Amino acid sequence: MCALALFPLAAALATPGIAAPSATSGDASNELNVLHWWTSASERAAADHVAARMAEVGLRWVDGAVAGGGGGAAIKVLNERTLRRMAPKVAQLNGQSMSEWADMGLLLDLDNVAQRRNWSRTMFPQVMAQLTVRDHVVAAPLGIHRINNLYLNKAVFKQHKIELPSDWAGLERAAQALRAAGVTPVAFSDEPWQVATVFEALLLGEAGPALYRRMMVQRELQAFDDPALERSFKRLRDWRNMATGPAGTSQNGAPRERPWTELVADFAAGRSAMLITGDWARGELGTLGLEGGRDFECKAVPGTAQAHLYSIDTLAMLAGNLSSQAEQEKMAELLGSAALQLGYNRIKGSVPVRRDVPVDELDLCAQQSFKLFANPNTPRVPSLVHRMAFEEVGKNAVIETVHRFALDPNQTPAAAQRKLQGLLRALGPKSVKAAS
Ligand code: BGC
Repeated sequence: MCALALFPLAAALATPGIAAPSATSGDASNELNVLHWWTSASERAAADHVAARMAEVGLRWVDGAVAGGGGGAAIKVLNERTLRRMAPKVAQLNGQSMSEWADMGLLLDLDNVAQRRNWSRTMFPQVMAQLTVRDHVVAAPLGIHRINNLYLNKAVFKQHKIELPSDWAGLERAAQALRAAGVTPVAFSDEPWQVATVFEALLLGEAGPALYRRMMVQRELQAFDDPALERSFKRLRDWRNMATGPAGTSQNGAPRERPWTELVADFAAGRSAMLITGDWARGELGTLGLEGGRDFECKAVPGTAQAHLYSIDTLAMLAGNLSSQAEQEKMAELLGSAALQLGYNRIKGSVPVRRDVPVDELDLCAQQSFKLFANPNTPRVPSLVHRMAFEEVGKNAVIETVHRFALDPNQTPAAAQRKLQGLLRALGPKSVKAAS
């Protein structure tokens, strides 16, 4: 998988006569060019917060945003720039692909920073596991997102006197009542990563954390035979059907491919009432003036209330010719600090990566996510779609399989299960470090 995911890059670096990238872009010594995919209003504001804190310690964030939710486009640009020896100094490089980059010697080792700042004591063990490749810390963490959220617009439910649902029967009843009241029940986009983000949360609900782990972490082929998988595909179909707008309204018709920010805007304006997605949406709702707990309810996808389906945002420092090592280490240190953790995560919708941050200043939804993640008894499971479980190629293939099913009404849930089983067999056994 490793060779496939970064094949051109690995091949170029291995070809005699082509040296490893010696230069990373960014000119003045205090400038750090950062490649990332945070382009929505809240993502932008969270990145600006980091840039402002950096400026206070004499560092300049040179922005290298690549639009596209979920980061597919940004990762392609990062590969391409690295091949052309124009790698940025800092890149959003979440999860499993980090080990491929580290193995090729492309990432700066941040062990000194981690030791100096006692990261192994202050950070959650799952966070340290994500940052560490073969006993070396190779990235700095920003925040922990929860994926298995079900958001309900309280004003809409109240206006139409509909009870807030928490199980599937309730959701189906609410969907009917909402449609009768002229509201599109569910906000849903056909964009592949968004479809698959909903799917993995539904899978967690149907399979439970142990089976989810056997599928997505251990990649046990027999686990994919379980009927829970077929049920999850069925749920996905039902959920997408609930996103069809009521006849005779401007929302009329089936869902289509739309940026996630449009879904959030619809939900915020009451054009739809229910949304399953990661809590970057909560950050975005915040910038639109809505507060978790007050204006919208943060529930979990049915069957997942006690579990935390997580993804962790991390920034890796690219080694290049080591000319910016001091500045990169300084930035990594800042990212891990308690003050930055609180300020950044308040805007972003994620929660701090450290156990010692006073989260009572965050909204109720964030507090709930943080407490769950911090509780050692909580089943914490890694997101496939957001790179915590599979490497890039395998992850994209799963996303594509789920997406094809969603868009093809003639494909049965049982057929989709068979396709996923076939895909897993083709991908072969897991080749990279296990997610925790
Ligand atoms: C990232 C988030 C980001 C979201 C939407 C996820 O993969 O972890 O930081 O807000 O994609 O782009």
